[in-house]
Amino acid sequence: MADTNAETSPAKAKVAVFVSGTGTNMAALLYASRLPGAVYEIVLVAANDADAGGLQIAATEGVATFALSHKGMSRADHDAAMEKAALEAGAQYIALAGYMRILSPGFVQRWEGRMLNIHPSLLPKYTGLDTHARAIEAEDAHGGVSVHLVTEELDAGEILGQIAVAITPGDTPDTLAARVRLAEHQLYPRVLGDYVSRGSDPQHLLERLRALALALPQTHERESHGAPGFRVGSEKSGKYFAHFSDRHHGTPHISLLVKCSGMDELEHLVETQPEAYHKPAYYGASGWIGIILNRPGLEWEAVDEWLQRSWRQVAPKSVTRLLDAADEF
Ligand code: GRF
Repeated sequence: MADTNAETSPAKAKVAVFVSGTGTNMAALLYASRLPGAVYEIVLVAANDADAGGLQIAATEGVATFALSHKGMSRADHDAAMEKAALEAGAQYIALAGYMRILSPGFVQRWEGRMLNIHPSLLPKYTGLDTHARAIEAEDAHGGVSVHLVTEELDAGEILGQIAVAITPGDTPDTLAARVRLAEHQLYPRVLGDYVSRGSDPQHLLERLRALALALPQTHERESHGAPGFRVGSEKSGKYFAHFSDRHHGTPHISLLVKCSGMDELEHLVETQPEAYHKPAYYGASGWIGIILNRPGLEWEAVDEWLQRSWRQVAPKSVTRLLDAADEF
């Protein structure tokens, strides 16, 4: 079906999938990406084995492929060549799908937060190999599958989603693996889609913001004009230092409103960095600046600094003095 909204729908996240074998998870990701409303597209399927079945499927479906055997190459060189192919295809994310390689630390670091893996167990149980045999051997009630972020430690990054699969009496590792595989094909496209969308998901952005705001001393959350707000001081006489604004008054922005030093700074930032700052309706007139959260390249450290600045402007001196004293040590 033609995408009649091509001009207005947001750009899709570009994903490279790395495989070593049959590539059924890659196929699940690929076919899900062809549903209307899909939020990612597969720009490359790459393998460390030219005979990997996944490459064939991708080629048949008109997806670019890349194959390079790791034999005779150093780990870092092989990773770098795979990475180069992904970057040349425009990939913003890498999805490992049965990619049977340990990755070099530099490669993992460069893609931190942008590389996912699917693992056939309910992590943190059974990292590594033979997961189904180990679950059966342990007489677990369930096996299952996890999708997680890739970090340097094997199968240990943040878990983004899981499905439990009941183990039946008489299950062998193969029969269990076959049912887990069905669950894998449901899980991976959903989790990948949610993950690449989270930078524009108001719920996710609010959760991150809330964690930072409430980590500051003597803060609490209080709704203001129907939107989440954060105050410093007592429940009774506290003052707002941050507001969360979800596309209010016709703007496309999901933003954090904080106090800046005054109108000069506000006007200057909005004029010179319109992709990062905006002048919010009503609040702008009294020196609140909008920090745009739903944009590529957002840095949460910078958001945290703005929260701290605003908190300092509003907090009672008795509280900021405590923090100043602590900072001196
Ligand atoms: C899957 O079981 C996956 O969980 C694991 O490797 C297998 C890949 O299978 N990481 P396929 O190539 O996607 O069919």
